[in-house]
Amino acid sequence: MAKICLCLTAKTLERNLEILNKYRKYADMAELRVDCLEPNERFLIRRFPEQTDMPVILTIRRDVDGGFFNSGEGSRINLMAQGLAYADTDRRRNFAYLDIEEDLNVPSLEEAARAFGTRIIRSSHNVKSSCVDLLGKIRSMRHSEDEIVKLVVPVNTTRDVLDLLRAGKECPGQEKILIALGHLGVYSRILAEQFGSFISYASAFSEPDTPVIAQGQLDIKELAKLYRFRSITTNTKVYGITGFPPNAARNLHFFNMIFGLEDIDSVYVPFPMDSLDTFMELAQELSVKGLSVTVPYKEAIIPFLEGQSPDVQNIKACNTLCHSPHGWMGANTEARGFSDSLLAFLGKSNLKRMRVTVIGAGGAARAVASELYRLGAKALILNRTVHKARNLASSYKFTWGGLDNRGIDMMDKYSDIIIQTTSAGMEGNDPGDPVAMYSFCGQESVMDLLYRSEKTDFLKRAADAGCRVQNGYDMFIRQAQFQYALFTGKEFPEYLMARLQMDSE
Ligand code: ATR
Repeated sequence: MAKICLCLTAKTLERNLEILNKYRKYADMAELRVDCLEPNERFLIRRFPEQTDMPVILTIRRDVDGGFFNSGEGSRINLMAQGLAYADTDRRRNFAYLDIEEDLNVPSLEEAARAFGTRIIRSSHNVKSSCVDLLGKIRSMRHSEDEIVKLVVPVNTTRDVLDLLRAGKECPGQEKILIALGHLGVYSRILAEQFGSFISYASAFSEPDTPVIAQGQLDIKELAKLYRFRSITTNTKVYGITGFPPNAARNLHFFNMIFGLEDIDSVYVPFPMDSLDTFMELAQELSVKGLSVTVPYKEAIIPFLEGQSPDVQNIKACNTLCHSPHGWMGANTEARGFSDSLLAFLGKSNLKRMRVTVIGAGGAARAVASELYRLGAKALILNRTVHKARNLASSYKFTWGGLDNRGIDMMDKYSDIIIQTTSAGMEGNDPGDPVAMYSFCGQESVMDLLYRSEKTDFLKRAADAGCRVQNGYDMFIRQAQFQYALFTGKEFPEYLMARLQMDSE
């Protein structure tokens, strides 16, 4: 079973011990990063392991390898020797592991380590997967069979992550540590078992004096608690979220919390990527069972589907993928999530005789429009890019316009319900009110599909005018419940609703 290793990067040994004691319950082992210590503290490292009551890795990382040590190889080797000196016959009082770079050849140091049970981690940094035969390297790097190979591979593309995954899978019997360094490899830290890595390094990011030492590294509490790292095995079913969802944290929390409470052997991870084609290969290689698909992939994913639900065919956007023996099956849970949420908000069972404005004409608006049509509403679609509004409206014989004076004037006749579906306000200084020229009269029921904050500028303005308002959190929960049912084949356990609501407040 893969282990969580807490990286200790504070400036003093005392502080490192304090951090270790605080996060001990999440860690299986610790790495003392001697290069992060103040120079005078570095001479006191020998006594550190005996105070920790857990296996400790001794690492003195050079600046050229991404560390902070720049005082020359002679003094680095001396420090390593000091860390191993006066070895105790009780091995627990010695460093359990010594990290030695591939190019450091000091047989006396290795002998000293081996004599008292300190295992050698043979590390190699900045290994470019495009230039190196990773599998060959994993197999050949060890100086002897009892060494653990550690490869740190900077990942700039999803292809780099896939190469590392494949190389790791090719040598299942060998103890190794594989690190996909960078944001695109973040899930490899959670799925260490699947990547064939013996350790996942994590840090205590809530401590102000713990610098980020490796891109993509996770917070130890998040790794242990949110992802339940210690219960992940190669049998654990893997689910995740693709794209650039600003609210991915909600999905991660939703699914992992339910998997935990229901004791389901599954994990849900973030899948950032730079290429959908390569990612789908990787998902196959990782045996991913299901995916939540977000912006900007909801349409691009459709050619990868073997089968699609009527909703996907109709809306031409897919936000849920489930793996089946025949391939990927696509569904759209946003449509029903939206309409169930809207009807509950209004206390109605249909939208007959209701006149509705939809702001936006993207994937989310398409799901909204199809449900408005199904429920009998008449709608006006307004969009910044007018031809998209026209295209969407023509599918349902709705009216359309731009986000200009003319379009805004048309809203007066479609103002029972106003639904904001655009991503306006999610980036930079964007004010988050695409219809700022519209004056609410106070009678409108207003919904914004966004839910990052309780009220967007648009919703605040509507609420101030006396309108009933709702953000997209309820819709999110409902569509996620449908997704859960598709992923697991089980109904969403209703008793968990109260728990989720509590967490959202
Ligand atoms: P989604 O699946 O979330 O709907 P999308 O398909 O990319 O994402 O659609 C984004 C929608 O938000 C579009 O209607 C887009 O308008 P354009 O078609 O003109 O691009 C709209 N949008 C994004 N940013 C906006 C902004 N700042 N002001 C107005 N509309 C915006």
